[in-house]
Amino acid sequence: MITRVGSITLDVPDLQRSIEFFTTKVGLEVTERDDATAYLRCADRHHDLILEQAANGEAALRHLNLEVEGDLSEHVARAVAAGAVDVGPIAHPGVAAAHVLEIPSGYGVKLYTGLESVTELPASPLQRPFRFSHFNIAVPEVAPMMEFFQAAFDLRPSDWIGSKEDPFLAWLHCPVFNAPHHGVAILKGDPKLHHVAFDYESVSGLVARVDNYVDESHYLVWGMGRHGTGGSVFAYTEDASGLLVELDSGMISIGDDPRWREAQVWSLTDQRAIDEWGSAIPEEWLAKRTAFIRPTETLDTLYEALT
Ligand SMILES: [Fe+2]
Repeated sequence: MITRVGSITLDVPDLQRSIEFFTTKVGLEVTERDDATAYLRCADRHHDLILEQAANGEAALRHLNLEVEGDLSEHVARAVAAGAVDVGPIAHPGVAAAHVLEIPSGYGVKLYTGLESVTELPASPLQRPFRFSHFNIAVPEVAPMMEFFQAAFDLRPSDWIGSKEDPFLAWLHCPVFNAPHHGVAILKGDPKLHHVAFDYESVSGLVARVDNYVDESHYLVWGMGRHGTGGSVFAYTEDASGLLVELDSGMISIGDDPRWREAQVWSLTDQRAIDEWGSAIPEEWLAKRTAFIRPTETLDTLYEALT
């Protein structure tokens, strides 16, 4: 079972600048780092974000990281049967075992088990996020990708905007009682990472984070508002590499949350789906995209270098 959408691994053009953004603006802490890689956390999990210094100086998504309970090889086999490409095991600090797959459209997914627990962080004047919330990836056709995530990883649909057959946006959650409304969001568009998100315990803590982010050269890309799909209060910021980073509070949980009803289709014209408080999606938000690295391309490059 996939129990949590745990993090992403992101190549960044300037590792130190990105670390500064995620520590001072988002509120993460570095668990460990060297010149090439940094593991950052929200609380007592070893990491909720992995940053790597990009060899080519360009920001790019490397892996979408899903936490697995049970036999890792069985999860790999299920994903391969659903159409993923088996790229192979990968070893790194903080996890007992991990395995990389390439999924349709070319995104890299890393399944992992045994995430280490580390020392709880000291209190911070500005609230820290308590978890990685979700990633949002774009693909030309959303419906087949929704089917793939269900077949490969047993994730469950949360909501759709538009229709089930041809959604503009759709969301999935882990098959766990009280899982957040979404860990995965899929947007119709050219295949790129659209954004990642972190969750805060309180809206007042989120507002303080927004105040801390905004200055004469940094304004929100979108927000604050409240998504009808998922119920979270949101604010979209941008990191030094151009990555869109959503700061959230109040996402509903699947199961016993009074705001959770069932997976439903929202009309494209239903303003509440996008922002219950009334704003429309800004063009600037839609235009934000971060490239991704195909894991099989990385293998091809290594093979060429060795032959
Ligand atoms: Fe989001």
